Amino acid sequence: SEPFSEKLRVPEALTFDDVLLRPMESRVEPDAADVSTRVSTNVELQIPILSAAMDTVTEAEMAIGMAREGGLGVLHRSMDTAEMEAQIAQVKRADELVIRRENVVTAAPEQTVNDVDAMMEHEGVSGAPVVDDEDRVLGIISGTDIRPYLEVGESDEVREAMTDEVVTASEDVSARDALELMYDHKIERVPIVDDEEHLVGLVTMQGILARRENENAARDADGRLRVGAAVGPFEDERAVAADEAGADVLFIDCAHAHNLNVLDSARAITETVDADVVLGNVGTRAAAEAAVDFADGLKVGIGPGSICTTRVVSGAGMPQITAVAEVADVASQHDVPVIADGGIRYSGDAIKAIAAGADAVMLGSYFAGTDEAPGRVITMNGKKYKQYRGMGSVGAMQSGGGERYLKEENDEEYVPEGVEAATPYTGTLASELHQLVGGMQSGMGYVGAESIPEFKERSEFIRVSSAGQTEGHPHDVMITDEAPNYSPNE
Ligand code: XMP
Repeated sequence: SEPFSEKLRVPEALTFDDVLLRPMESRVEPDAADVSTRVSTNVELQIPILSAAMDTVTEAEMAIGMAREGGLGVLHRSMDTAEMEAQIAQVKRADELVIRRENVVTAAPEQTVNDVDAMMEHEGVSGAPVVDDEDRVLGIISGTDIRPYLEVGESDEVREAMTDEVVTASEDVSARDALELMYDHKIERVPIVDDEEHLVGLVTMQGILARRENENAARDADGRLRVGAAVGPFEDERAVAADEAGADVLFIDCAHAHNLNVLDSARAITETVDADVVLGNVGTRAAAEAAVDFADGLKVGIGPGSICTTRVVSGAGMPQITAVAEVADVASQHDVPVIADGGIRYSGDAIKAIAAGADAVMLGSYFAGTDEAPGRVITMNGKKYKQYRGMGSVGAMQSGGGERYLKEENDEEYVPEGVEAATPYTGTLASELHQLVGGMQSGMGYVGAESIPEFKERSEFIRVSSAGQTEGHPHDVMITDEAPNYSPNE
């Protein structure tokens, strides 16, 4: 056999700080650079960004925010299947033009106005169609109809207070027609009815305006927001449930997808669901070769994450730029998209990952401090933070996550591969994404590429020494005002 010392002839593997993009001739103004991309074989996004499937990063609110901005949120899997289905449904109906019947809050004619007032408050709506026992629309009641009754302290029946001349529309109404009806009649909601006046849905002014604001949103063929869901490699039932609930992309979520049992199970899952299936995480050419014939996307990252201790605990891992490039070598031959997951601190890291061959990037810590991430803001020494923890941390494993990191059933003696931390509170997701995407477009401008595919093709790396790296950060000055896209302690 080979002498052991041969093992020391080791290949070099590089990560974000080891490389920079070579500036090139360009006519591309950054804001003209098109960042639309593919996250999996059949799913396109307007921006190449995904939020991580972690319990301190992505639940429905984050997924709605990400999709409205053109990206994709991937729901974590540390929740039961029913909860996951509910969250998928929440994203899917968030910007729907026609709210479907089962989600429309309605009133009955014999209810009292007091009762309806309390119901509308509880449901968070400002008006409701009034329907009879057979679900036929009799009228519509809103806060404006109710107020005079409440002011004089009387609680009459809804049939007295409602507006009974209702403007309705049929199911094939367009957003433009609905809006016109609303302007003409000075109303804010139009019940959608079938031929026999049965209620089948509702269109609201608020819904139409929200859709207009987000022209760039990531939407499915029916115009609903896109959403991803993480499933365990052996969770066939959860995968089917997520697929049926309408998830656009399933992410088979595993710390080491080049495990042969994981691959077998993942292959079987792809055969039973309609949604695209992205497999991860992988980090080598060999792993990509083993999965590329059945996966609709490959997600790369063995230990680069900000809260990861995988490399220190297990001694295994792959620096992220090399990992992405190895996987992309294989995936690009089969036209399978690649997602770079973990370790991205700055917009520059994100665009370097694309140059290395990724089609999109996934981030955890970058979004964990936003309003849209789960959890509340905590204050320490006068500064605001939000919790952020690895899914392989003790805390996440105790609250049901962490199958990904080989948690033993009923075993309290975890061997964690992640830490629990706090991350600075950063405000809205939209402003974080604005900085992230703007920085990436700036990188495309320096390289002279108008689109992601062109940028992947054209960009070149140069190797940076540690002196070069120091030169690249602010130096020899004391920063007086924090920039929105740079923090010196990262
Ligand atoms: P960033 O750097 O964006 O990384 O915060 C997010 C990614 O890290 C992975 N992840 C983990 N990796 N132990 C690990 O080794 C963990 O406990 C852990 N939790 C998350 C995951 O790929 C995520 O998207």
